[in-house]
Amino acid sequence: MTPSVNVVAIDGPAGAGKSTIARELARVLNLPYLDTGAMYRGITCAVLRKGVNPIDDAAVSQLALATQLEISEDGLLVDGVDATVDIRGEAVTRAVSSVAANSEVRRDLRERQRSWVALRGGGVVEGRDIATVVFPDARLKVFLTASPLVRAQRRVAQIGGDVEQIALDIAERDHKDSTRSDSPLRESENAILVDTSDRSIEDVVKQIVEVFHG
Ligand code: DC
Repeated sequence: MTPSVNVVAIDGPAGAGKSTIARELARVLNLPYLDTGAMYRGITCAVLRKGVNPIDDAAVSQLALATQLEISEDGLLVDGVDATVDIRGEAVTRAVSSVAANSEVRRDLRERQRSWVALRGGGVVEGRDIATVVFPDARLKVFLTASPLVRAQRRVAQIGGDVEQIALDIAERDHKDSTRSDSPLRESENAILVDTSDRSIEDVVKQIVEVFHG
């Protein structure tokens, strides 16, 4: 049995509903939940704390390898210091795409993600490259999407701000995430595509659970 057999891979752009749906799915399927975006954000938090330039690839990857991340249901510790709030802040959000484009960082986090899941015997894992790169043999692959307007409105509901500005920020981050050379955001060939724009969380989770048990 491969470690990925009990993995549900959830990929998609920002604001597609990944976290909400992945959390609920994990609860219903009784599987651990891993937010890999929080790991990239955690490394970015360490980068900013140490005053390292996010686009200095060598310095960022060296720091990433030395940074301890402890992920739990309650939040994230970066080198033992709570970063649960900081990783959702503006500074981290602005810098994270550069850190996530760093191949050494990706290689390191990929290994940590695989170990995390192997240790627990499976999980609902959300990110951008989970079905395509991290767990290509996942039991179920889901690509979540939503219209740009809905995605911006959801972000505003979470963190406040102006819908038009947030829509521009999201578009910029999407562009960076989808065009980077290392594991860009891309729909996996055998993923089910789910547009969450006009659907309730319950409805989407129900559909995915049915396919999982299918
Ligand atoms: O899902 P999120 O917004 O918390 O992700 C933060 C950033 O990390 C985003 O720019 C995409 C990147 N990311 C990635 O490149 N690969 C992943 N598996 C998860 C997130």
